[in-house]
Order: sequence, then structure tokens, then C-alpha cells
Amino acid sequence: MSSVAFSADFIGELDQLLRWRRDVRHFKQQAVPEPILQDLLHRASMAPSVGLSQPWRFIRVEDNDRRLAIHREFERCNRAAHAEFPARDAEEYARLKLSGLQDAPHHIAVFFVPEPAQGRGLGRRTMPQTVEWSTVMAIYNFWLAATARGIGVGWVSILDPVMTGQILDVDPDWEMMAYLCVGYPTSPSEMPELEKKNWAARHPDRSRWIYR
Ligand SMILES: Cc1cc2nc3c(=O)[nH]c(=O)nc-3n(C[C@H](O)[C@H](O)[C@H](O)COP(=O)(O)O)c2cc1C
Repeated sequence: MSSVAFSADFIGELDQLLRWRRDVRHFKQQAVPEPILQDLLHRASMAPSVGLSQPWRFIRVEDNDRRLAIHREFERCNRAAHAEFPARDAEEYARLKLSGLQDAPHHIAVFFVPEPAQGRGLGRRTMPQTVEWSTVMAIYNFWLAATARGIGVGWVSILDPVMTGQILDVDPDWEMMAYLCVGYPTSPSEMPELEKKNWAARHPDRSRWIYR
């Protein structure tokens, strides 16, 4: 195929996908079939990356002891975050569920290589952070491809990146980007959970252009 045209129906469905993609924290126990997980990784790897460096590394966390250690680390970081909020916000914070670590059947940690040999440094001289941004794009590809297949993804950032690297025994040169909970959501929703809980809401100004 030399080019591809997308139908109006497809564009409508893509819009639905963007609307229904959620950060998921409540999962069914049912595992996602292996070929589907492999397919998601494949889609993630199609993301754009600076210099075609593909700096992301997706790690399947399957070992129970490591998972437990990650969960304990989350609880430690969550308690510390909770303690820093002023009293009124702290009360609301305590009511939020900020990870699906206990119920998600799959844990996927995403790291990146800060100085990847692949891509030969192209595009990074003035903006070395572009490797991080490339990794975010791979995660977002993964997230959208998962949503399209009825699979939920929850991004957990309430973790210490160095501790997480140690628990997972990754290459000490890699840096942590995300810890993803993956599985079938208990209740798909059109509204972000933080909006449902009145923590924050999407602001219309963020979909307005700024002109200069
Ligand atoms: C970089 C990043 C880090 C996030 N970290 C967390 C987290 O630690 N815990 C959590 O519950 N949600 C986390 N989220 C999810 C956001 O809270 C969520 O995307 C936002 O509330 C909007 O909801 P939606 O993704 O369902 O549209 C994170 C999202 C991003 C992009």
C-alpha cells in the first residue's frame, strides 16, 4: 500500500477513542491474552522518537515479591504526598484511589535510556529531554491501542524512580518514566475519575489557542 485514506467513520471512532480513554484504577481480575499484550507493545513501538532512537524499555513485572515491594513503595510515597497537602485538600486526597496496583492483572514499568546509541544523537543536542518525550509518546500509543481493545491503563507516578529501578533490578543507566497498571476496567467511563471526585476538572481555556 503506497498511501492510506481514513474514512469519516474511522475518524468518528478515533474521536470516540480519544474521549473514552481513561486513566483506570479499578480492574477485573481477568488477564489480557498474551498475543494482545504483545500487539500493544508492537503499537507502542511505532511511536515517533527523536532521531528514531526508540529509547523506551517496557518491563513486565510478574514476580509477586517485586509487585508487593512496588505496592509498598507506592504506599510510602502516597503517605508522604498526603502529608504535604494542607488539611482541607488532605481530607479529599485521602478519599482518592490513585493506583490499581492491587487489582491490575498486569504491571508494566516503562523506563528510558537517556543516552541511546540508536539514533546517533540526532535531534538531542539542544533538547536532550526529547528522549523522555519520545517515551511518553510510546506510552500514549500503548494507552490508545489498549483502550481501542477494551483494555484499561492506569499511570502510577507516585513512586520513587530510583527505588523502583532497584526493586526491578534494571540497568542502572535507565531512568524510570511510568509504572502502568493494565487490565480490563470494571466500569468504563467518559469522565476522568478526578473529575468525578471533584478534585479537578478539564478547563475550557486549555482547548483555546493562544495567539502572538
Ligand atoms: C504523567 C502522568 C502521571 C500520572 N500519575 C498518576 C498517578 O500516580 N495516580 C493516578 O491515579 N493517576 C495518575 N495519572 C492519571 C491522571 O490523573 C489522569 O490522566 C487525569 O486525571 C485525567 O484523567 P483521564 O486520564 O481519565 O482523562 C497520571 C497521568 C499522567 C499523564
